[in-house]
Amino acid sequence: MTGPIIAAVLTYLLMLVAFKWQHLRRFHMSVMIFIICFDVAMPFYLVATRDWKARLIDNGDILSFGVWMHFGLIVTLYVLYVIQVQTALKMLRSPKPTAEDLAAVRRDHRAQGVGILLARGLVIATGTILADPMPKE
Ligand code: HEM
Repeated sequence: MTGPIIAAVLTYLLMLVAFKWQHLRRFHMSVMIFIICFDVAMPFYLVATRDWKARLIDNGDILSFGVWMHFGLIVTLYVLYVIQVQTALKMLRSPKPTAEDLAAVRRDHRAQGVGILLARGLVIATGTILADPMPKE
């Protein structure tokens, strides 16, 4: 396993803990914000440290099913993050939410959270399959 995969798996374990302990609001929010930043930064790090032209163009990997599946999952994950932050802000900002409104937002946040766990797990799994065991870094 390469360094970025190990780091991603460790953040996934941390995410599971923050998912389970959502009632520790500050811990939950700090971990989730950190993980979203980590996931946004990862593509920049990989582009900076890998020879993408050789990998995708010269090797022809750009036409592979695995690369596109990985890419599609990443886009899905980012979209889910945007919606998840919106529901989190709704929970935090509603001035006087009714009990039903709050319950509905929490239900959405929870359901999307399960989707995020699934999508992120698959992003890491497909990334592991694609990872170059001998990167140039
Ligand atoms: C920036 C990102 C996020 C913020 C700011 C945030 C914020 C919050 C807040 C304020 C709560 C309510 C906690 C309470 O009851 O006091 C909560 C609950 C929860 N969050 Fe998040 N969250 C974020 C991301 C995530 C992600 C990525 C997941 C899943 C992987 C997730 C899963 C949950 C779950 C399952 C609950 C419990 C919902 C319920 O009450 O049934 N959150 N979150």
